[in-house]
Amino acid sequence: MTSEHPIFDLQRRCYECCECVLGRRAVDGADPHVFGSGNVNAEIMFVGEAPGADEVRMKRPLVGRSGQFYESRILEPAGLRRSEVYTTNAVLCRPNEKNRTPFPTEMELCAPHLDAQILLVKPRLIVTLGNAPLFAVCGTTGITKKRGRLRWSKAWSDGEAIPVLPMFHPAYCLRGSGLKEMEEDVATLRKLSGMARAKGALAEIQAAEDLRTLCDLEAAAEAH
Ligand code: URA
Repeated sequence: MTSEHPIFDLQRRCYECCECVLGRRAVDGADPHVFGSGNVNAEIMFVGEAPGADEVRMKRPLVGRSGQFYESRILEPAGLRRSEVYTTNAVLCRPNEKNRTPFPTEMELCAPHLDAQILLVKPRLIVTLGNAPLFAVCGTTGITKKRGRLRWSKAWSDGEAIPVLPMFHPAYCLRGSGLKEMEEDVATLRKLSGMARAKGALAEIQAAEDLRTLCDLEAAAEAH
């Protein structure tokens, strides 16, 4: 990250957010906000659920046990490095009781922070990890059926939607579930990340078109 990037203004404003009870705890110093990190010009953005104790301590998303899974079982086999992608969460503050899923009202109140990060990074592909970020980015749930298939995000304030690959949450896989599906989805991610990271004007136009076509095909298949 460079200090000139407008995302740093956003980060400072987010650190002051006390819209929900989690934000008020964070501002009071209990569990401070954890903002996104990584490459602010990334072609690929990963969105997790919410920080836990390790993330609060390290002030970075996805660095605890789920974060280790994220690096070693998702990024590495997909041919990606953490420093080249942008990583954030659907909710910036730690849900205080035993890493519970954020409540819908907390997600709603935190949505402007995620939306603003997406608009500033403008990734070509978003990967959501679990149901909460699937809801935050696409306005839908049902990760078990929807995982592994490219779909459109909701439209952002600039009117654009972004291709999204929903995947299971690392914590779900760490409990021994969905590992085969996770491997399948990582293989899909590997292919899609090749498109998302295409370099050169013509290759970029072609890859963007291919991603759009895949999203439209999946949307048509889901409608039937
Ligand atoms: N840590 C995070 O930052 N996000 C998650 O979704 C889980 C753990």
